[in-house]
Amino acid sequence: MTGASRGIGRGIARSLATQGYGITITSRADADLVEVAEELRSLGAPLVVHRATDLAARDELPGLVALHAETFGSMDALVINAGIGTAGPVASTRLDRFDKTVEVNLASGLVLVQAALPLLRTAADADPSRASRVIALSSITGVYAEAGLAVYGATKAALISLMETINLEESGHGVCATAVAPGYVETDMSAWTTDTIPAEKMIRVDDVVAVVDMLLELGRNTSITKIVMTRSGASSYGA
Ligand SMILES: NC(=O)c1ccc[n+]([C@@H]2O[C@H](COP(=O)([O-])OP(=O)(O)OC[C@H]3O[C@@H](n4cnc5c(N)ncnc54)[C@H](OP(=O)(O)O)[C@@H]3O)[C@@H](O)[C@H]2O)c1
Repeated sequence: MTGASRGIGRGIARSLATQGYGITITSRADADLVEVAEELRSLGAPLVVHRATDLAARDELPGLVALHAETFGSMDALVINAGIGTAGPVASTRLDRFDKTVEVNLASGLVLVQAALPLLRTAADADPSRASRVIALSSITGVYAEAGLAVYGATKAALISLMETINLEESGHGVCATAVAPGYVETDMSAWTTDTIPAEKMIRVDDVVAVVDMLLELGRNTSITKIVMTRSGASSYGA
């Protein structure tokens, strides 16, 4: 799973650990991953492997999946969680920032899915009642456009489309894909907007974790391609 060092990703990793999953975790700083891995083992994960990788380094991503393959041999779930925010009006959006956001928020997901599909299919073949799952953290901004978040929203919209297509191509063989698209969640990423939306009014990390846990419980015959999580009290179309 990507982006395990903080925020939503760390919450998902903790829950997977308590359920007894063996997990491969990544983010950019090795020291963070050592600490998270220790925590996950203490929560019940039988085996945790980690490798620090910048998701913008496209060529390094198949190696992450290879590390998982060497350790586990198959993959029950690929959680594509890490992402970066990019704010600013379309008129002044810098193309280098566009490229970086596309690379981290979108291209890395495709590269990881391509590398992981054989492992996900192996897991699906091992138990015909269960699906293996690709779960990607999109955003409500990928469903409803938000002024000032064009590039971020575009990557998150594309991620939804990617999950829908994976689902069309693979779910008949037991690999189902879902995009989870929340409004503001209380993490480091949303800290910049707490003067207008107080942290206590944001979606809790635990609620996103609960949605991911629910997806992992579903049987093979159920696919959910997109889950939109609206912040209570907000407009249905706003983050
Ligand atoms: N928070 C929200 O309001 C919100 C709402 C909707 C959707 N989301 C989405 O949910 C996901 C998780 O968000 P969050 O709020 O938990 O964010 P966060 O607290 O900022 O954590 C982001 C995670 O992604 C990792 N990451 C960032 N850039 C990376 C890179 N270039 N290479 C590898 N790892 C990288 C970070 O690790 P390091 O920095 O340690 O490398 C960290 O583990 C994101 O995709 C985000 O777009 C968030």
